[in-house]
Amino acid sequence: MESGEIERAARDLLSAQKAIAFTGAGISVESGIPDFRSPTGLWSKYDPDQYATIDAFKADPGKVWEMLVEMIGLVTRAKPNPAHHGLASLETMGRLHAVVTQNIDGLHQAAGSRKVIEIHGSGASLSCLSCGSRIAATSFSMEKLPPRCPECRSIMKPDVVFFGEPLPLSAYEAALEAARECDLVLAIGTSAEVYPAAEIPITAKRAGAKLVEINVEPTSLTGRFSDYLIQGRSGEILPRVVELVRGLMYQ
Ligand code: APR
Ligand code: ZN
Repeated sequence: MESGEIERAARDLLSAQKAIAFTGAGISVESGIPDFRSPTGLWSKYDPDQYATIDAFKADPGKVWEMLVEMIGLVTRAKPNPAHHGLASLETMGRLHAVVTQNIDGLHQAAGSRKVIEIHGSGASLSCLSCGSRIAATSFSMEKLPPRCPECRSIMKPDVVFFGEPLPLSAYEAALEAARECDLVLAIGTSAEVYPAAEIPITAKRAGAKLVEINVEPTSLTGRFSDYLIQGRSGEILPRVVELVRGLMYQ
């Protein structure tokens, strides 16, 4: 017998014409990647003003690479968890249209999700701020840091959005379109503190979609925009929701 909200989410997914997921760092915590704003998050160790702004990177790229190496190490070792697999299953079952993610860890794709919109970029490649050369993140040696451009020897930067940088326009536009067209958005593992990314679930709600949160704690969306919050770990909740949807679809 499932809890009320889990049953409710399964029914909402079954009756939705076009459901999307909007995910944040919380969905990858159970894969071993800390989130940012929880008490043990990355920003409790590294001041984002010193390590996560484009000005900080340009001022001292070697220092920012100290934090990036730790992040890349965690991401490289991480595997998708049952929450990532649950979203991939919902897409395969035709119950999820797309995942819009703020994460740069590639775990949604690794779990098998095909339509993934990365609005904060991706850690899979690095770019040169001087000449624009781009290389795969796997092609540089962690022994020789910070990685230098093969063309002009400038220090390279991961293709992830730093504070003070614009979001990748085509991804953001695709995310807004998905938000406007959906009738259900699952906001999973995000504090919804960072804009413009946090506009995505709010745009969906304003366009008439149902907004369901899965989070270990309430967020700035809860009680203002969300229809309901399923409180708990996404790696535990999502597989239960998916099992119920599967049961309802094939009963
Ligand atoms: N299951 C569900 N939710 C979880 C879990 C879990 N296992 N663990 C943590 N959470 C929740 C936290 O309660 C929090 O609400 O995930 C959320 C993580 O919030 P943030 O750390 O702020 O991460 P996110 O919302 O993705 O941040 C957005 O900020 O620093 C920038 O670019 C960075 O993309 C990031 C953006
Ligand atoms: Zn270069």
